[in-house]
Amino acid sequence: MTVVALGVPTVHRTLSPAPVDGPLIDTFGRVATDLRVSLTDLCNLRCTYCMPAEGLDWLPGDQKLSPEELIRLLRIAVTRLGITGVRFTGGEPLVVAHLEEVVAATADLDPRPEITLTTNGIGLAGRADALKRAGLDRINVSLDTVDGERFAAITRRDRLADVLAGLRAARSAGLHQVKVNAVLDPVTGLDDAVALLRFCLGEGYQLRIIEQMPLDAGHSWRRDRAVSADAVLATLRQHFTLTPDPAPRGSAPAQLWQVHDGAGVTGRVGIIASVSHAFCAACDRSRLTADGQVRNCLFAREETDLRALLRSGADDDTIEAAWRAAMWSKAAGHGINDPDFVQPDRPMSAIGG
Ligand code: 5AD
Ligand code: SF4
Repeated sequence: MTVVALGVPTVHRTLSPAPVDGPLIDTFGRVATDLRVSLTDLCNLRCTYCMPAEGLDWLPGDQKLSPEELIRLLRIAVTRLGITGVRFTGGEPLVVAHLEEVVAATADLDPRPEITLTTNGIGLAGRADALKRAGLDRINVSLDTVDGERFAAITRRDRLADVLAGLRAARSAGLHQVKVNAVLDPVTGLDDAVALLRFCLGEGYQLRIIEQMPLDAGHSWRRDRAVSADAVLATLRQHFTLTPDPAPRGSAPAQLWQVHDGAGVTGRVGIIASVSHAFCAACDRSRLTADGQVRNCLFAREETDLRALLRSGADDDTIEAAWRAAMWSKAAGHGINDPDFVQPDRPMSAIGG
């Protein structure tokens, strides 16, 4: 099989067949152990950097995996492909009624994977306990500002109070350590970052600031408008004393910093330099979209249709082999910084963060 390497259209790699067993590996030797599952492309916010005010052409219901189909794929991933961590995302996963059911079924798998959720936090206040009981281990809540007016401007919905209530409920439910993911606004973002860090230190949440990537539905991302990790660090250092966290980073995308006050370390902040300091070489991820497509990268230009296999009666061996082949062809990197980079057609909200 010949595939076009990401961002380098002139280079063609002729691939040997993927291994038939062992870890979920690619031709560069990276092993995928972390599966990101988008449960839906629907969302109850309209973040300006993600989608237009009117929303998108949502996936029709019958194209989305049923809970039974999804649980079968999760079983294959965990028992045959060596996946040890499953993160549920969206769109917004809390709009999915069967979320708790899927979490509980995932927790029943042997070996039990670590189960995490990335959510905008709306509706979390009423569900954090049930999610914890179902087997959810940890949670990341997206929050780009703690200023109510800016929140409404960024998300086009006046829902900051719901998100803050969701965060508190997650903490009370024992979903430690609650993480807050922020993508910064190009104009007000550096001020927001300082206020967010104060807020997170006070509440015991770990803030992680993520560089904005070219994954918006409108394809309007511009490098010079995205707030860089270096700018974030320089700004935070004007207000806080930061030192590199000594813990080994492994495949974690966040560079972690310890925040000190006069008395000692008061918390940590992560900075995720997805664009300016890509961590593709350490990537351990495989992705499954709500409509049952495996993506080997956020920026992949090809997908592998597991839903079609499921619905045509394929056995587990066939699905496993298709998933292995999908990952085997993973490109070396996202190519965002290459002059001929082409943004994927599928927006972030239909891939999952
Ligand atoms: N670049 C980086 N992060 C993004 N998110 C949404 N769009 C982008 C983008 N273009 C984030 C959301 C949320 C997570 C699911 O992904 O803010 O934290
Ligand atoms: Fe929804 Fe997340 Fe997109 Fe915001 S960034 S509109 S919360 S999917």
